[in-house]
Amino acid sequence: MGVLLISGSPRKNGNTELLLSVCDKELKNNNIETEIISLSSKEIYHCTNCDRCLGINKCIQEDDFNDLYKKVLQNRGLVVASPVYVGSPTSLLMAFIQRLTYVSFNNNHTLSKKIGGPIVVAGETGQLTTLNSLIDFYLVNEMIIPSSIYWNIGVGVNKGDVKNDEKGELYITKFAKNLALVLEGMEEK
Ligand SMILES: Cc1cc2nc3c(=O)[nH]c(=O)nc-3n(C[C@H](O)[C@H](O)[C@H](O)COP(=O)(O)O)c2cc1C
Repeated sequence: MGVLLISGSPRKNGNTELLLSVCDKELKNNNIETEIISLSSKEIYHCTNCDRCLGINKCIQEDDFNDLYKKVLQNRGLVVASPVYVGSPTSLLMAFIQRLTYVSFNNNHTLSKKIGGPIVVAGETGQLTTLNSLIDFYLVNEMIIPSSIYWNIGVGVNKGDVKNDEKGELYITKFAKNLALVLEGMEEK
């Protein structure tokens, strides 16, 4: 019943992972089990639209996707985070969530009722367009997104910059608190 937190930044130990660790800390404060995974060291190919995932609940491509997909299924919560790359999420994260969506659709909507949301960081601008395209991933998969007191965004260019972004830290902490609330409510049912 934990939360899986996935960083879509190809840069290890950067601002995306720092914001995820803020979320992770607050979830742990609320006694929720968590795991942070960076896609930076993973091999994630693109969806080829072969439809061979139909009915077998996995992708037929032999890379790191299926192990990650199993972890997604084992957790009730899913948080995905990305830096803004040319006004969009990274291609690494998009490859992952496009395959997640396709396998889910082809196997009776396995992502339905999972709870979570996206987190985005950029040096200057593009956070909202990037956040919105990640929100589309949650909405199309019938997932539940708790909110914050603003959007789940941070500001930072160089590694570690988001440590100085007090507002970003507050937005992510509030989001994590609400995520914990929703998770607790769902578990009672
Ligand atoms: C290829 C590339 C494209 C980028 N595009 C944008 C952009 O459109 N807007 C922006 O504000 N920052 C942009 N950035 C800056 C990153 O979003 C920023 O450095 C971020 O903190 C990186 O997160 P990370 O440390 O987790 O990798 C770009 C960086 C790279 C490498």
